[in-house]
Amino acid sequence: MCGIVGYIGSSDTKEILLKGLEKLEYRGYDSAGIAVKNETETKVFKEKGRIADLRKRVDENFSGTTGIGHTRWATHGEPSVTNSHPHQSSDKRFTLVHNGVIENYKQLKEEYLNDTKLMSDTDTEIIVQLVAKFAQEGSSTLEAFQKTLSLLHGSYAIGLLDNDDDHTIYAAKNKSPLLLGKGDGFNVITSDAMAMLELTNEFVELMDGEVIQLMEDQMIIRDMEGTEIERESYIAEIDASDTELGTYPHYMIKEINEQPQVMRKIIKEYQDDNGDLKIDKNIIKQLNEADRLYIIAAGTSYHAGLIGKEYFEKWAGVPTEVHVASEFVYNTPLLSENPLFIFISQSGETADSRAVLVDIKEKGYKSLTITNVPGSTLSREADETLILHAGPEIAVASTKAYVAQIAVLAITAAVTARELNKVSDMNLMSELAKVTTAITSVIEDADKIEEIVKSYLETARNTFFIGRAMDYYVGLEGALKLKEISYIQAEGFAGGELKHGTIALIEEGTPVFALSTQEKVDLNIRSNAQEVKARGANVCVVAMEGLEQEGDAYVIPRVDDMLTPLVSVVVYQLISYYAALHRGNDVDKPRNLAKSVTVE
Ligand code: F6R
Repeated sequence: MCGIVGYIGSSDTKEILLKGLEKLEYRGYDSAGIAVKNETETKVFKEKGRIADLRKRVDENFSGTTGIGHTRWATHGEPSVTNSHPHQSSDKRFTLVHNGVIENYKQLKEEYLNDTKLMSDTDTEIIVQLVAKFAQEGSSTLEAFQKTLSLLHGSYAIGLLDNDDDHTIYAAKNKSPLLLGKGDGFNVITSDAMAMLELTNEFVELMDGEVIQLMEDQMIIRDMEGTEIERESYIAEIDASDTELGTYPHYMIKEINEQPQVMRKIIKEYQDDNGDLKIDKNIIKQLNEADRLYIIAAGTSYHAGLIGKEYFEKWAGVPTEVHVASEFVYNTPLLSENPLFIFISQSGETADSRAVLVDIKEKGYKSLTITNVPGSTLSREADETLILHAGPEIAVASTKAYVAQIAVLAITAAVTARELNKVSDMNLMSELAKVTTAITSVIEDADKIEEIVKSYLETARNTFFIGRAMDYYVGLEGALKLKEISYIQAEGFAGGELKHGTIALIEEGTPVFALSTQEKVDLNIRSNAQEVKARGANVCVVAMEGLEQEGDAYVIPRVDDMLTPLVSVVVYQLISYYAALHRGNDVDKPRNLAKSVTVE
């Protein structure tokens, strides 16, 4: 949800900002802009659409060694050049980029800016106009910025330039992510370390409410009271090459292909010297002490949570509920006496999940975040963190992070079960190794899966994914994946539930994907498949080896019943990928979406 970068140093900043924004484009791609400043002037270049479109707008002949940039996912105001960032104050002295939402912008306008003619429909412009107003009234830039921040309600990561000051980028954050990057003779701000890795891998975390003055050789961090804070930097352990496309045409297919490697990495990271599963002792203690687990997540991560519930309940005997984050915070269920909250989030930045975390922390409850991004907001703010080790996920449609989430949930539940002395005859480590081989074999069948797309989805307008037990949850994920990138309306349903209403939607030729990997419900789901077939549906059965029947469209290799989602979902990921590709869609950046959803 919007990404920001900033650079202050001795190199021309244009290319640095553009390259940084290209790496942040996953956060929003409605429009983009940069502001470049030299000793005399601050020039703004902005354009609707992608960074590639912005590049064409930038004046090659104008250079400056200080700058800020922004890629936008529109919240207030339609995607347009006027509403793009950076925004400038009417007197052109101040230039600002913002990620987040200012909830009280209308009140602020009425109270302070009645005489100011606003240029855009954005909440952001209010911030830069307020800074200019307070500066005109005699405040220093720092004071004007601090005063403005004290009036804002909502979320923000901000980069601010003052045309009268050649040596400083001002920055601040509240709820939205922002990092400082340290270089030799330069410093940067960025929403995500990944965007600046080509320049530096040394970063400094920021906390909510902090205000920053960034110079080329110095960074001053102040808390809300204005007291200077010393903070150690850390080295981001991300390989810059992990974020490159390499020989793949899209990040999504690259990330689907990386799944076996992600599984191997997880198996290695969550193993002790004796080859046994290991999870941090404090985490296991909290899991064992909890009388109920509340898994909180959104979208694909929520779907992974549904599978996690099965592991915690069936293996460890711990009652577990799974909740959509955006609902939980405003519609909280009756809680148990000693709950543990588990937040599942690829990005670790999802605002809906964070709202729940803030709420439950205030109530004194314990929390664990499972995320792919160490140092992310949900990771920093929860009591404990487990890392997914999936490597950077760039495609908006999540694939490898989902598989990693399920694998880490399985390991966590299995260790909880072991510590609670629940007997199991399953060797999870070796079963996960079998899963890894099975995922590889599905990926090798990509051509066959592309043929399925040709047979079932080429002209489809809507489709259904049905399953029972674990397969129902995978159907929900398959439907989400397909709709978000192919724009085919797709719904996941419990096989037995169709006849209670949804079956009315089945027409001649409606594609229906039926998944059967669970022996105990194989006959039931096959009956449900027959019911829709009898009404004209074009049924595509994906079954597990051992349960396959003549006419099934695809058979996945046999793995343990409880672990089949890790393999069957890969079939659905590939189906979604090829369906989107055949429709000529932008697979990695589907319309209206952004990767990291930092607004509620
Ligand atoms: C879908 C997808 C989203 C995310 C959701 C939560 O492919 O990626 O549904 O799963 O926005 O994001 P995280 O996991 O970052 O909290």
